Amino acid sequence: MAPQPPQPEELPPICRNIITEYSDQIMKLRFTLLELLSEALGLKPYHLKSLGCGQGLSVLGHYYPPCPEPELTFGANYHTDSGFLTIVLQDSLGGLQVLHQKQWVNVSPLPGALVLITNDKFKSVHHRVLAQKGTPRISVAAFLGPSHEGIESIVYRPIKELVSEENPCVYKNTSLNEFMRLRRNAEGMDGTSALAPFKLDP
Ligand code: OGA
Ligand code: NI
Repeated sequence: MAPQPPQPEELPPICRNIITEYSDQIMKLRFTLLELLSEALGLKPYHLKSLGCGQGLSVLGHYYPPCPEPELTFGANYHTDSGFLTIVLQDSLGGLQVLHQKQWVNVSPLPGALVLITNDKFKSVHHRVLAQKGTPRISVAAFLGPSHEGIESIVYRPIKELVSEENPCVYKNTSLNEFMRLRRNAEGMDGTSALAPFKLDP
């Protein structure tokens, strides 16, 4: 949906207006969130925005069909997201879980939930979706990330204001191209960490 929105006729008529409206609202929300997250890291409010962290937006509508034997499978196996920040709108069924202190914890239906990757200050949480027996489950995931234009030239590195002797760099500098390439190889939906290939040697 951003930075280059699709032509309206490329979107299915049934959800064309609502997707456009929803994306507009997410675009307004993204800068507020980036400001709050920058401040939470002790940075200037515009810091994450100036890194381009909210330039790109992809919106995925998920349909999880009802499953006759939900105990044998998952709606979505466990994974971390590769964007900068994901905003999930889930329906009232529930099923989304996050891994917290080695336990799967339900994310009970709320209007929105956030997932963020940084230099291990905010965790990119492992999450999964349970399969459900009775009714289909619907969710909408909005992935915020850099714009894919000029992707090869953008290098991401630890934020220098956050690095010190006590807080050394955890991850290597990496270009977006390299990140997308290694990530595609590293992680299917099998839960291996997408960030592992980028860790500096201990
Ligand atoms: C995703 C995701 C959760 C959901 O799209 O990456 O984890 O509730 N979605 O559908
Ligand atoms: Ni996800």
